[in-house]
Amino acid sequence: MRQLLPDVVDPVDLTALYGDVPAASSRPAVRLNMIASIDGATEVAGKSGGLGGKPDSEVFHVLRSLAKVILVAAGTARSERYGPSRTPIAIVTRSCALDWDSALFTEAPQGAAARPIVVTVAAAPREELSRARAVADVVVAGERDVDLAATLHALGERGFDAVLCEGGPTLNGQLAAAGLIDELCLSVSPMVVGGGAKRVLAGPSLAPPAEGGERTDWRLRSLCEQDGFLFLRYRAERSAGTAAPA
Ligand SMILES: NC(=O)c1ccc[n+]([C@@H]2O[C@H](COP(=O)([O-])OP(=O)(O)OC[C@H]3O[C@@H](n4cnc5c(N)ncnc54)[C@H](OP(=O)(O)O)[C@@H]3O)[C@@H](O)[C@H]2O)c1
Repeated sequence: MRQLLPDVVDPVDLTALYGDVPAASSRPAVRLNMIASIDGATEVAGKSGGLGGKPDSEVFHVLRSLAKVILVAAGTARSERYGPSRTPIAIVTRSCALDWDSALFTEAPQGAAARPIVVTVAAAPREELSRARAVADVVVAGERDVDLAATLHALGERGFDAVLCEGGPTLNGQLAAAGLIDELCLSVSPMVVGGGAKRVLAGPSLAPPAEGGERTDWRLRSLCEQDGFLFLRYRAERSAGTAAPA
């Protein structure tokens, strides 16, 4: 793989490149990794796998190796059939309708630091909650919706200061709306898909910044290429705003 920006580096050391992890001052930093087709689709027949290839898989694994915890929404964990990982996985779910007999839970590395974490709500069905507790740590972070800032706080308390979010779009949209994405790693797959697949963020449009209020600018940190795949890395730069003095 070669880096095209900010400088040409061929071949590029991906671990060193992505080792430049984002930071956040009062919570764990969140890096989001997603792949999309040239026309913006994030899945083919319900899975992201149809978009991927060897270069994307390499970036995916490097990003996982640099994270302290992986944050994923239940829809993605179900459709992508998440398995166990050396990096602990935190799953956001309202229903707690997860396959507790799947390898994600039964073959997860032992030990408190590596157990899967189920992040859910107080209103989750009791029976599912007790099944969750048998195979995972359970974090209750909200009544009916998981509060994502509270989720990050809970992950931070466990010592996970670098969060890799792997989607899906519904979770991403909420994280973006709450100003909780610090870096967006986007792989562009050299294919067009058409259809109605979700984009990287789903849900309501993000509110435009108020005049003079806080705003986020997305700065291109690096761009790499291999086999027609592009790997963009945008860092969120937040500014406090310039409201005029009274
Ligand atoms: N291209 C890529 O890189 C990529 C990456 C990831 C996923 N995908 C694709 O995206 C699709 C899945 O994405 P999606 O947007 O449909 O779903 P999603 O974001 O993966 O999952 C949605 C589910 O997560 C839980 N959830 C999300 N926010 C919550 C909150 N605030 N409180 C409580 N629970 C919450 C709920 O789970 P419960 O239903 O359990 O309550 C909800 O139904 C799949 O087709 C997948 O292949 C693509």
